[in-house]
Amino acid sequence: MEENKIPAHIGFIMDGNGRWAKKRGLPRNFGHNKGAEVFKKTINWCRELGVKCATFYAFSTENWRRPTDEVEGIMNLLRRYIKDIRESAKENIRIIILGDITQLAEDIQFELSDIMDSTKDNDGFIVGIALNYGGRDEITRAARILAQKAANSEIAPEDISENSIEELLYTAEMPPLDLIIRPSGEQRLSNFLIWQAAYAEFVFMDVLWPDFSKKNLEYAISEYSARNRRFGGI
Ligand code: FPP
Repeated sequence: MEENKIPAHIGFIMDGNGRWAKKRGLPRNFGHNKGAEVFKKTINWCRELGVKCATFYAFSTENWRRPTDEVEGIMNLLRRYIKDIRESAKENIRIIILGDITQLAEDIQFELSDIMDSTKDNDGFIVGIALNYGGRDEITRAARILAQKAANSEIAPEDISENSIEELLYTAEMPPLDLIIRPSGEQRLSNFLIWQAAYAEFVFMDVLWPDFSKKNLEYAISEYSARNRRFGGI
């Protein structure tokens, strides 16, 4: 595959964990366990295929509405995978957390801040993990910061540009988002990277996230590479 046909940044909506478990008569958290294993494998597949950055939707601002044991299960998975993430740092991987982590348990907040800080100079690959993330929340936060600056007369309203908003998004130091992959048959964004997706390609797939394979990833990339991205031109 030609190098410029490989997406630099892919967003993954890890959907279908609950249905995967239900089909097997297992509790939903079994699906999340399996989903977390696939998260880890997907990072390696992306690297092997020449992708530079992958962002995963792990927990949305709306996911707090789920039963407490399911939320706790996902948080415990996160605790467990933080160790793996630490190992990744040795492979020159940078970790960026997207979302308001101040609502998470203190031990998780501490670990995540530490990981972001200690991997910030790694330049081999970027893993984004969206946690307590919502796209509208991300844009609102940027608007609030700019409004405060304008109120303090640090900037004038006409100084506000797409660039000044983009610099305040969690993705500011990532390559532009090229492709979003959503498995599980659902065809919507669910508040994931809504600003960044303005010109991204979408590939929706019927596979449930715990069954997502390297072949599925290769298929999505080949779909992407066959498309003609015009960015509003002709
Ligand atoms: C969506 O499937 C999945 C989630 C809300 C949780 C995703 C979390 C993980 C894969 C594990 C934690 C991640 C890391 C980074 C360690 P769903 O439960 O909505 O599935 P359903 O639509 O079939 O019910």
